[in-house]
Amino acid sequence: MGGFRTGEGTEQGMVVLVTGGCGYIGSKLIRDMAVHPKFSGTTIRVIDNMMRERYVTLMDLPTKSDFEFLEGDIRKDEDMRNAFRDVDMVVDLAGITNAPISFERKELTFDVNVNGGRKVIEYAVKSDVEKFVYSSTASVYGPTKGIVDETYHCKPVSPYGESKLQAEVFCLEISKQSGLDVTVLRLGTVHGYSIGMRFDTVVDRFAYLACAGMPLTVWESARMEKRPYLHVADATDALIFALGRSDIKAQTYNVIGENASMNRIIDVIKKEVPNVQVTVTPSPSLNQLSYELDGSKIERLGFRPRKSLEDGVREIVEKFHALLGSRARHARRILPRTVLAELSES
Ligand SMILES: NC(=O)c1ccc[n+]([C@@H]2O[C@H](COP(=O)([O-])OP(=O)(O)OC[C@H]3O[C@@H](n4cnc5c(N)ncnc54)[C@H](O)[C@@H]3O)[C@@H](O)[C@H]2O)c1
Repeated sequence: MGGFRTGEGTEQGMVVLVTGGCGYIGSKLIRDMAVHPKFSGTTIRVIDNMMRERYVTLMDLPTKSDFEFLEGDIRKDEDMRNAFRDVDMVVDLAGITNAPISFERKELTFDVNVNGGRKVIEYAVKSDVEKFVYSSTASVYGPTKGIVDETYHCKPVSPYGESKLQAEVFCLEISKQSGLDVTVLRLGTVHGYSIGMRFDTVVDRFAYLACAGMPLTVWESARMEKRPYLHVADATDALIFALGRSDIKAQTYNVIGENASMNRIIDVIKKEVPNVQVTVTPSPSLNQLSYELDGSKIERLGFRPRKSLEDGVREIVEKFHALLGSRARHARRILPRTVLAELSES
């Protein structure tokens, strides 16, 4: 395990540990926390095993805050011991995050998300942590009938969803047994720009494909199915919101911006990239499913998502603006490929 420190640390300040802080959500969260008045004088410690090699997420961090980085694995005791030195609060984001691929790497998914997740919360108990926020997913639900809330009986369909549900259950049990202040957030599929972004979920992937001049391929049967989505800025706002609340112990909250169908996502992309080609394939979909979530429980506490699907798509299209030139598009012409296997919830 290696480490570095940047910025002007305040030794007496609070330490917030962000596991998986070099990921899509984590890389934005640590930047947002660094400039947030609530975290002034706070040390933001990141532990990440860099499995996705997103070293770029550690570049150009705001100098205003004190950062510590540990390249380490949440499954290893030695790394956890180092990570948990003097920690006051934890945002637990580390994990194996691709739902469709979790069928192929079931063992790794459970090992990291369940065994690793368990280790993180056990160290939090041992270290007398003040607040623990676990980042779960809308994928724990499985297919739903109508719009459902947090009381709905979850039946996840992917190993990813199942592993996140097991970790959630464990977090809440530990919270009840030990008194640790745990809050679970079930985030919708995230979209929008962050420096550590992934392109294996539907909105970002489709926005990229549209910019690169490649067709969007959708199953006919999936066009009307709805899923919950959330802008990355709303995801980080929700995590910060939960960190600051001491009155929501052992509670679970859906955090969603919008339940949207594939047709709606395509319409939003068409507004930004009007000449995008959409290919509808009649093949039945095996693992697509519809689920719509009610996000009002967290909204009743005063949390409101601020961003739309339009915002997320616009950000990605702006970042890829150079690909939109016709020369670039012709140079990149490749055989259309079905990307459905990779497009799912996370
Ligand atoms: N992005 C989404 O759409 C979404 C939606 C709902 C919930 N979530 C949850 O939010 C969290 C963060 O998601 P993300 O999109 O930022 O994912 P991500 O894959 O971008 O980030 C996860 C990070 O965890 C790190 N990691 C993986 N295994 C590790 C290990 N053993 N030890 C230490 N670090 C490890 C990875 O290197 C990566 O940087 C995850 O728990 C995910 O389940 C994400």
